[in-house]
Amino acid sequence: MTEPLLVLDNIKKSYGAIEALKGISFSIGKGEVVALLGDNGAGKSTLVKIIAGGLAPSSGKMVFEGKPFQAKSPSEAKEAGIETVYQDLSLCTNVDVVANFFMGRELTRSVLGIPVLDERRMEAQVAEALASAGTRIPSLRTKVEHLSGGQRQAIELNRFVHWGGKLVLLDEPFAALGVEQTRRGLEMIRHVASQGIGVVIITHIMQQAFQVADRIVVIRQGVVAGDVARKDTSPDAVIAMITGESLTGAGSAG
Ligand SMILES: Nc1ncnc2c1ncn2[C@@H]1O[C@H](COP(=O)(O)OP(=O)(O)O)[C@@H](O)[C@H]1O
Ligand SMILES: [Mg+2]
Repeated sequence: MTEPLLVLDNIKKSYGAIEALKGISFSIGKGEVVALLGDNGAGKSTLVKIIAGGLAPSSGKMVFEGKPFQAKSPSEAKEAGIETVYQDLSLCTNVDVVANFFMGRELTRSVLGIPVLDERRMEAQVAEALASAGTRIPSLRTKVEHLSGGQRQAIELNRFVHWGGKLVLLDEPFAALGVEQTRRGLEMIRHVASQGIGVVIITHIMQQAFQVADRIVVIRQGVVAGDVARKDTSPDAVIAMITGESLTGAGSAG
């Protein structure tokens, strides 16, 4: 077990009469990839929104890096290093890769006492960040609108790493991507985790979970139905946790 980054302790959430989360407890370690699985309506998105400050829990506690933590907004979570990378991406499509990377954090240099954008230094830093992650973008001066969904996702993840992100949440990140882009995305997730960053990935594709995750957490009807190391489980066992049906004898289900 790696050092815990985020600990969820008995998180509950009701929407009026609907109790979407009925006391969720598990933890995410530094550098650990946790795949969050569960049927439609199980409560996965609700949980991720609570972690990322987009939704307040009805009750329960979170401990982040050893301290009580509850972001009141996504920007507060982001400041703490917790961010969701969404499918509908947060990049500005009408400016280039470098501008997106440094949005609001531009580097400047002084020319006759006047600060001007230090484009060369920014471009060099972006190039270095992408190269170390194995991300290939033909030109960093390409406007993001001309890039593929997979390239955009890679830029977002690289940006997250570059600015000291600590925990990234991905809700069905590959739903709109092709096979090759998905393969690169999964590689990128392993790269992100190798930097000591925690990753929570929601996916309904079992194969993706088994390819990328260190641990698999299953949510069923608002409760944790399973929390297992990937190496200690099997797709059949995880399906049984998702559906709530018992697995009759190892490997005999399905
Ligand atoms: N804004 C909302 N208002 C009312 N009910 C909601 C809302 N969001 C989600 N729910 C309900 O909460 C439960 C969990 O939903 P969700 O977290 O989206 O599940 P999942 O992401 O696992 O499919 C479902 O029963 C869903 O209908
Ligand atoms: Mg969902």
